[in-house]
Amino acid sequence: MVDFETVVNTRRSIREYTDKDVSDEDVLKILKAGMQAPGSRLGAEPWEFIVIRDKNTLSKLSQIKPRVKTAPVAILLVANIERAFYKLHWQQDMSAAAENMLLEAVNLGLGGLWNGVSPTEKTMDEVAKLFDLDNENLIPFCIITLGYPAGDYENKFMDKFDEERIHYEKY
Ligand SMILES: Cc1cc2nc3c(=O)[nH]c(=O)nc-3n(C[C@H](O)[C@H](O)[C@H](O)COP(=O)(O)O)c2cc1C
Repeated sequence: MVDFETVVNTRRSIREYTDKDVSDEDVLKILKAGMQAPGSRLGAEPWEFIVIRDKNTLSKLSQIKPRVKTAPVAILLVANIERAFYKLHWQQDMSAAAENMLLEAVNLGLGGLWNGVSPTEKTMDEVAKLFDLDNENLIPFCIITLGYPAGDYENKFMDKFDEERIHYEKY
């Protein structure tokens, strides 16, 4: 466990991972963190998750999203629009879940990456096909890859603060 400030400030996009596996326990914690996110309507959260550990599937997925290549585990976030109350808010609901998951990964000493899927039609089609999402209400949103950081990648502070973006009272 890391303190909240450290988690938020040191989270980085980790695109390469060591061979070390991620425990089922940690994956569950990350899924729980995702489901703790705010949603546009309590009880009508659209999120569903596919946990992928199978090497063959990960290899196929890495042909669609190359950064999956070295990840021991990937989680596909699927928006089930049928579950949603506000039909236009699902991207925001899914994004809130994704960010919570990335932060929990840092908290557990892991690295994570948001691999974009939606709204790129080609990528969405390819991912939908690979995971048998053959219902138009099931939308592949993004893939969170997880693992222990390798190469030049590490969770470390990078200052992204920009005072010019802040406005008080009026633009
Ligand atoms: C919607 C979204 C889609 C992204 N898709 C990808 C992706 O497909 N591949 C990738 O390497 N990084 C992807 N990223 C990660 C960003 O490149 C990364 O967050 C950004 O460069 C800032 O770096 P940081 O996460 O270390 O702060 C995505 C991030 C977001 C929010």
